[in-house]
Amino acid sequence: MVKTLLLSLFLLACVTSAGAQQVGLITNTDARKTTSLDGAWQTIVDPYESGFYDYRYQPSNNGYFKNAKPKSSSDLIEYDFDSSGSLRVPGDWNTQQDQLFFYEGSVWYKKSFAYQRKPNTRLFVYFGAANYFADVYLNGEKIGQHEGGFTPFNFEITRLVRDTGNFLIVKVDNKRRRDAVPTLMTDWWNYGGITRDVKLIETADTFVNDYFIQLQKGSRNHVTGWVKLAGDKLTQKVTIRIPEAGISKSVTTDANGSAAIDFDANLKLWSPEDPKLYDVAIEAETDQVRDQIGFRSIETRGTDILLNGRPIFLRGVCIHEEAPIRGGRANSREDARTLLGWAKELGANFVRLAHYPHNEYMLREADRMGIMVWSEVPVYWTIQWENPATFANAQNQLSEMITRDKNRAAVVIWSVANETPLSDARLTFLKNLVAHARTLDPTRLLSAAMERHYVNDTTQMIDDPLGEFLDVLGCNEYVGWYDGPPEKADRLEWKSKYEKPLVMSEFGGDALGGRHGDAAARWTEEYQESIYKHQIGMLKRIPFLRGTSPWILMDFRSPRRPLPGIQDYWNRKGLVSNKGEKKKAFYVLQRWYQEKRS
Ligand code: GCU
Repeated sequence: MVKTLLLSLFLLACVTSAGAQQVGLITNTDARKTTSLDGAWQTIVDPYESGFYDYRYQPSNNGYFKNAKPKSSSDLIEYDFDSSGSLRVPGDWNTQQDQLFFYEGSVWYKKSFAYQRKPNTRLFVYFGAANYFADVYLNGEKIGQHEGGFTPFNFEITRLVRDTGNFLIVKVDNKRRRDAVPTLMTDWWNYGGITRDVKLIETADTFVNDYFIQLQKGSRNHVTGWVKLAGDKLTQKVTIRIPEAGISKSVTTDANGSAAIDFDANLKLWSPEDPKLYDVAIEAETDQVRDQIGFRSIETRGTDILLNGRPIFLRGVCIHEEAPIRGGRANSREDARTLLGWAKELGANFVRLAHYPHNEYMLREADRMGIMVWSEVPVYWTIQWENPATFANAQNQLSEMITRDKNRAAVVIWSVANETPLSDARLTFLKNLVAHARTLDPTRLLSAAMERHYVNDTTQMIDDPLGEFLDVLGCNEYVGWYDGPPEKADRLEWKSKYEKPLVMSEFGGDALGGRHGDAAARWTEEYQESIYKHQIGMLKRIPFLRGTSPWILMDFRSPRRPLPGIQDYWNRKGLVSNKGEKKKAFYVLQRWYQEKRS
C-alpha cells in the first residue's frame, strides 16, 4: 500500500512538470539507447521575444518555432536560424559570446536531425537541464515546457518524429522573476541556456520507466523499493538481478505497471573508504536496464550521524557548478572529476552541492569516488512563500532532483532551503517540502542551511523552528568575514534547541589567489588562512557538530561581486582560485581533515 502510494506520488510529480506526457522522468539515461543532440545549435537571441509574441504581446501562432523559410522572393520572413549564429550545447551562453555575458532574456535554439525509428519503439527527447524556462517544439508543434534551471525533463516525440528533416526548437528564457525558484537575488551567475546534455532516447513500446532500489531505512541487509513500467503491456514479470551477490528476485507489475521490491540481501556496504557499486539489472519481458548501485544505510541517533550503523563526521566543502579553469556552467564528467578530485585532496568525504541540483556526472562520480553528497533545491533567500505557484514549482524541482538521484548511494542528505528568513509562511512552505521529500524517499536525511542568532555577545543559538522537522541541522555563519574579525571565533560558543547533529554548512571568507599581505588585511590569502585557523578552533568546541562544509571549494562568478582588481564578478571565497591555484587556507583545512581521519 505505502509503496504504491509512494510510486504514484513520483509519477504525479513528473507528469505535471512535463505537460501532457504519459511517461514520468526517464532515469539512468546513460543505460538507455540514446542519440546525442549535443554540439552546435543554431540560435537567435530574442530580447523582446518577438519570436513568441506578436506586437500586441499576444502569443503568436507563427513564431520562430515554425522555422519558416521564404517560399518566394516576395515572402516576408524576418528570421532565419540557418544563417544565424550558433551556440554549443551543453553550455551557458554567457561564456560563449562576450555580448551575452550579462544577457538575461530569451534565446531560441534549433537542432535539425534525421531519425529512422524502428517499429514497436518509442522516442523521447531528454534535456539534462535548461536555465530557466524552456518552451520546446518539434517540427513546428509545441511538445512541452519546463520551469527550473537545474533538473532534467523529457517529452515523447514518437508521433511527431519523421525520418528526415526534423527540427527541434527550444526557447530558453533565463529572465529572473520574483515568484520564481530561485527568485530575483542570488549570489551566483544566472548562466542561461541549454546547460546540460540533450539526447534522444529510444525505448520499447513498454519499457522500464523508473525504479528505486536502496536499503530500507536503518537496515543494512533489507532492500526495498519499486519498479515502474510505462506503456501498454503493463502487467509483466520483472526480475531484479545482482549477479555478484547471487540475487535474482522476480515480481509482477500491477495494472499500473508498478511493483514493490522487498528482499533480504547480504551486500557489501558502500562507504567513502570502500565505495562499492553493484551491477544491478532490472529485466522486464519487453525491456531491461542496467545500473551501478551502492547500498549503505544513513540515519541519525541523537546528535550522531550514522553511516552503516557507525558514527561519522562529514568532512566536507561546498561546491558551485562552476567549471574549473574555463568558468561557466560545469557540465561534464571531466569537470566533476576535477572538482571532486580537489575535494578529495582536501581530505573530504562529503560535499554540499550548492544551491541547486548539479549535473548527473557529479552524482555518478561521487558514487564512484566515495564522496557523500548534500543535494539542494534553489529555495534560496527570500522566496515568495505565500504564492502557491512558487510552492508547486519548488516541490516539482524537489521531485525531479529526488527522482533523478534516488539510486545514488553517495546522496545522504536532501536540503530544502538556504538562508531563508523566519516567518510562519516560510515555515509552512518548507515544512511541506520536507514532508514531500519524505514521501518520495523515506531512506535519506533531510536538512536545510538555516540562520542562527546571538543570545548574547559570545553565544550563538540554533533554534530556527524549521529544525524540528529536519534530521540534520545546517547552519551558515561568517564569523571573521561578515561578522567581526577572525579571532572573534575564539570566544564564541554554540547552543542548539535540538538534540540533533549539526553540519556547519557555510563559513569562510574571500581571498584573491596570489594576493599576500598582513593576516589582518582583507582579500589576502593570509586573512582567509586566519579565518580558517580561528574557525577550526571554534568548531572543535561545538559538542553536537557532526560535519562541516566551508564556503567554498573554488571561486565562482557572481553578479553581486564587482570590486575591480579583486573580485571582478567572482566570489573569491574559494579555497582554490578559478584558475585552479590552491590558497593557503586550503592547507589549513586539509591538515584538520587529516587530523579528523586519524
Ligand atoms: C551566503 C550564501 C552563499 C553566498 C555566501 C557569500 O551565505 O548562502 O550563496 O555566496 O553567503 O556571501 O559568499
